[in-house]
Amino acid sequence: PELAQAFIDEQVDAVRAQVGDKKVLLALSGGVDSSVVAALLIKAIGKQLICVHVNHGLMRKGESEQVVDVFKNQMDANLVYVDATDRFLDLLAGVAEPERKRKIIGAEFIRVFEEEARKVADDVDFLAQGTIYPDIVESDGVKAHHNVGGLPDDLQFELVEPVRLLFKDEVRVVGRALGLPEGMVERQPFPGPGLGVRCLGAITRDRLEALREADAILREEFAEAGLAGKVWQYFVVVPDMRATGVRDGKRAYDWPAIIRAVNTVDAMTATVPELDWALLKKITDRILAEVPGICRVTYDLTPKPVGTIEWE
Ligand code: XMP
Repeated sequence: PELAQAFIDEQVDAVRAQVGDKKVLLALSGGVDSSVVAALLIKAIGKQLICVHVNHGLMRKGESEQVVDVFKNQMDANLVYVDATDRFLDLLAGVAEPERKRKIIGAEFIRVFEEEARKVADDVDFLAQGTIYPDIVESDGVKAHHNVGGLPDDLQFELVEPVRLLFKDEVRVVGRALGLPEGMVERQPFPGPGLGVRCLGAITRDRLEALREADAILREEFAEAGLAGKVWQYFVVVPDMRATGVRDGKRAYDWPAIIRAVNTVDAMTATVPELDWALLKKITDRILAEVPGICRVTYDLTPKPVGTIEWE
């Protein structure tokens, strides 16, 4: 904690020295890295920081709301909230191929952010990013990961990257010292394309909604069971197929929900935890009772390799 405080003091001074009275733009996804950078910059330069949160409609339940609540309501930040749900879902309609979905989401994300950046560009000289040390060292060729980069040449800003020499666990310690809520600091990794790669095949709004609700139940039960900070990643996947069931004496023909939970060190290999049967049963019962459109629940036992962590 003392080290975290020393780091914060040092970075506050460094950021102030770097940006002076100029403005700084930040794409605030709500993930650990961008949230910690936001909190740090709010402390250093207050309203000179302009945060842009793009809700692509593929966030988990309550996530965008939490970003607005923590940064706008509690920290009084200069936050632009963009609900781009319709733009993304319209573009994705009928698109089933996973890498195409990723490319559409990544490209549209940059486009929406660029539009917001243009609105304030005359005023802004700096772009803050939540780059951390492993981002600099690693590059993953298997899937098309996206980050903010790729802005056009006439929108080039000088970078502010205050956590670029930290590892993830250090970023969390700094976030805690800055007063970010535990749920945000301990947040599990969440892919840029979000629920878009967990609503398998061509995304439909009703199936996406069922996925979001089932995933919220899973997260709630994991938190209650004390597993939230212990299992590395856990989420629900809803495939684009139906299965037969019987509900209230009538035939049902609805979607299955697949529970995925993994432990890993570096995401290159992963194992599946032996979850408590009573917990799995409780999650199953709740999803079946509370989520319209889901009539079956399964637990994915596949380690990586052979299965990747995500289904797409
Ligand atoms: P896989 O599925 O390749 O996932 O075993 C390894 C880790 O990477 C995350 N992941 C992504 N993150 N954009 C991201 O930002 C993506 O397109 C993407 N695909 C997978 C995944 O959640 C896991 O943590």
